[in-house]
Amino acid sequence: MPQESDHGQTVAAQGSRIDAYVDRYAARATGMVASEVRALFAVASRPEVVSLAGGMPYVTALPLDTVGELVADLVARRGPVALQYGSGQGDPHLREQICDVMRMEGIEANSDDVVVTVGSQQALDLITRIFIDPGDVILAEGPSYVGALGTFSAYQAKVVHIAMDDEGVIPESLAQTIYALKTAGSPIKFFYTIPTFQNPAGVTLNAARRQQVLDICQRADVLIVEDNPYGLLGFDGEPMRALRADNADGVVYLGSFSKTLAPGFRVGWALAPHAIRDKLVLAMESAVLSHSSFTQLAVGQYLATQPWREQIKTFRELYRERRDAMLSSLEALMPAGFTWTRPSGGFFVWATLPEGLDSKALLPRAVSERVAFVPGTGFYADGGGARHMRLSYCYPEPDRIREGVRRLAGVIEQELRLRDTFGTGSSPDHIGVDTPGPDLA
Ligand SMILES: Cc1ncc(COP(=O)(O)O)c(C=O)c1O
Repeated sequence: MPQESDHGQTVAAQGSRIDAYVDRYAARATGMVASEVRALFAVASRPEVVSLAGGMPYVTALPLDTVGELVADLVARRGPVALQYGSGQGDPHLREQICDVMRMEGIEANSDDVVVTVGSQQALDLITRIFIDPGDVILAEGPSYVGALGTFSAYQAKVVHIAMDDEGVIPESLAQTIYALKTAGSPIKFFYTIPTFQNPAGVTLNAARRQQVLDICQRADVLIVEDNPYGLLGFDGEPMRALRADNADGVVYLGSFSKTLAPGFRVGWALAPHAIRDKLVLAMESAVLSHSSFTQLAVGQYLATQPWREQIKTFRELYRERRDAMLSSLEALMPAGFTWTRPSGGFFVWATLPEGLDSKALLPRAVSERVAFVPGTGFYADGGGARHMRLSYCYPEPDRIREGVRRLAGVIEQELRLRDTFGTGSSPDHIGVDTPGPDLA
């Protein structure tokens, strides 16, 4: 409720600098902080800025008229069901269809173990809610998905990062960290991993390491939460086999239609061992009663009547062309000392700046040169990432990507000249999760 201040203005009217409720929030709300760079991203969404920041799927490539007809038809024919409350676990027919989708990654599942969620983001929230007390440890790759880190922070978890290289998470680092934490008496609630076309690193856990990761976690009795929204968006060959395909009891698998269809439906899911599934359903009901019947049935109708595998192929081709545009222009234009990953699917390239440069300090200059990226600090819970940035190629057209990289290379070159003249600047201290808006996740 707005309050009257000394100056007769309502506190709310003074904007977000003064918060009359600041001493009343629950402790967990202190972990909910907006990114310092959010304001810059408001500028970055102007059309003259090439945004290599956003993680938005290119939904324009969908047959929008057909989707529109399908939705209209759904209301006309099945309105009384589509517009009614549904069950906490999700529409049974959609859960069957989800099992068909997961089969493409080697998963044999029973639809009874699937819970439909409001995007996989809600599945992340529910999993964290049922497992985490303040101070509990979650392992996560370093870097990791900013939206997950935001959720973990909101539940006051302690995130411990595990190092990655170009082949994904490093099994030895995982084993050593688990050992060190157990020896120190810190129980680990789960290992959160995005093994395929990782957000933000763009790398994929190779097959041999998948087995090692499964073995390490099984031996140490650490639950794996496998988040896999990009798994079907590979540019070469068949989809990778999911971790869940080789361990039904020790892995909770999270999936989503956000990247293979559209995020606007907000339909994702969790596949979990029975006992966890039961808790997830209860947590789901306490959060939202039930997911939207309307969007669940719309997705179900789309899967039943449209060539969705062909559509995924269309997305793959489109993103491959954009990935190629980004990689070739980075190769052609970036100065020595700037390095980057080479994704074979998904949306993102993870780049490392030359020594002495700081990505957050660079962002205002980049935006004034009309190009945007996400600074690396947003992807670490422990203050790391200052020399890194995430560049996404999912949304801009290839020519715009090339132009964006050209502008960014200019900014970095200028920054290198300054570094060589004045020495390295100090990086701003940063601890905590930097949560950008949903379009940037
Ligand atoms: C790794 C990862 N997990 C989860 C999500 C959440 O996706 P959604 O809630 O749209 O399914 C995203 C979105 O970008 C993501 O990149």
